Amino acid sequence: MTAPRVLSVASEVFPLVKTGGLADVTGALPGALAAEGIEMRTLLPGYPGVIAALKKPKAVHSYADLSGGPARILAAQAGGLDVLVVEAPHLYDRPGTPYARPDGQDWPDNPIRFAALCRAAADIGTGALAGYRPDIVHAHDWQGGLAPAYLHYRGGPRPATVMTVHNLAFPGKAAPSLLENLGLPPQSFAIDGVEFYGAISLLKAGLQFADRITTVSPTYAAEIRTPAYGMGFEGLLRARAGVLSGILNGIDATIWNPATDNLLAHRYDLPSIAGRAANKTALQTRMGLIEAPDAPLFGVISRLTGQKGLDLLLDCLPTLLGLGGQLALLGAGDAMLEAGFRHAAAQAPGRVACVIGYDETLAHHIQAGIDALLVPSRFEPCGLTQLCALRYGAVPVVARVGGLADTVIDANPAALAAGAATGLQFAPVNADMLDATLHHAVALYRDPPTWRTLQANGMTADVSWTGPARHYAALYRTLAA
Ligand code: ADP
Ligand code: GLC
Repeated sequence: MTAPRVLSVASEVFPLVKTGGLADVTGALPGALAAEGIEMRTLLPGYPGVIAALKKPKAVHSYADLSGGPARILAAQAGGLDVLVVEAPHLYDRPGTPYARPDGQDWPDNPIRFAALCRAAADIGTGALAGYRPDIVHAHDWQGGLAPAYLHYRGGPRPATVMTVHNLAFPGKAAPSLLENLGLPPQSFAIDGVEFYGAISLLKAGLQFADRITTVSPTYAAEIRTPAYGMGFEGLLRARAGVLSGILNGIDATIWNPATDNLLAHRYDLPSIAGRAANKTALQTRMGLIEAPDAPLFGVISRLTGQKGLDLLLDCLPTLLGLGGQLALLGAGDAMLEAGFRHAAAQAPGRVACVIGYDETLAHHIQAGIDALLVPSRFEPCGLTQLCALRYGAVPVVARVGGLADTVIDANPAALAAGAATGLQFAPVNADMLDATLHHAVALYRDPPTWRTLQANGMTADVSWTGPARHYAALYRTLAA
């Protein structure tokens, strides 16, 4: 059998456009799958930055009207990827993030904008392009959710479909009055269609109609079938449990490798781990922290939202500082959390430092310079920063949820005795448990041989895409057969 051709459909793809881990995943998958003999092309919207990055774009399809204006599908290379781009200036030629205006408000026509992306995916899937017809359409999150639904309702021969949930907290809601504008038939507005608590959910469209559903860790795949984590989709996900599975994310080992990372003050690897000390000093200097080599330096690299549990960290800062610790935080998001961390930094100069913003380079400096990375998420489908931390010898201190539970081995007495631990986990996710875990982390840090073992175990753990790519390849092969 020839290798299946897969069309990946996503609203963000690293290095072309990124707001979070979704882009890291969609950007890394094609390369990882190539090693498995899978040909993956990526369909994404033509935001200004994406159009500007296209090398030798070629129009391969055109629309007189795609959701309110003329549009084309461009085939090109960009950012090392083989992309198909929906060029529709009336939908995508806008300032701000892929989803929101510069003032932070979501574009009111987002359902229509991403429906157009999915319409293009369904057209490509059913043969609109000369010489390219995918065997599988793989949609990501709510922005891709309508692709499986369109292919379902069209009838006739169609590619197999996969829907990957990166975050169930974003249902992609639209008003029921948009049904026709979204190109959905009247009968689709029903419990066994796209209806979701009186509205339309683009994510539900994908969950309902995709041949397979995946999410980004086995634990999250189990959690989302329960009311505590299911965000209202748990009934549907329980009904579809037979086609639902979890495949862990990896990280791009060429971008995240402390031995070759040109962004670092000092490159290092496990045998030269002493070189981390210079990165710690460099980070302390850069962030205005006291240059104390022996102070346990905790780091955070995160969107600042309720999901990430960083309000708990604000509650625990007195403990962290009382233990002689320092905090280096990089993040942006909720105004309240931004203000909270700014205030904390002003209260404890030299010991708490925060950079409010988005900075890929600083993220590398933090991973190489901190002693421990904090990820106290209330829920976490997979999480990528803890994987980078493992690779960089920063010990992850994480909530025991979702992908964090699956990727960190907790330093409990049994795992310590077996020499297997890679970090610390805590549950339930509340300030008391985080407090206790900070105490435990600092105690382990003050025991250098044990700490070194945690670092070594983490640095040698396989966090690459090799294993996950094999799982996706197997899934595609099953579906194509
Ligand atoms: P999520 O997708 O929920 O935000 P992940 O851990 O899966 O969480 O992915 C987050 C990605 O975004 C990682 O690559 C992380 O390094 C990066 N990131 C998050 N916040 C920032 C920031 N403020 N500056 C730079 N990179 C960030
Ligand atoms: C989402 C999740 C995160 C996951 C990422 C990539 O943004 O919040 O846990 O790692 O998608 O799959």
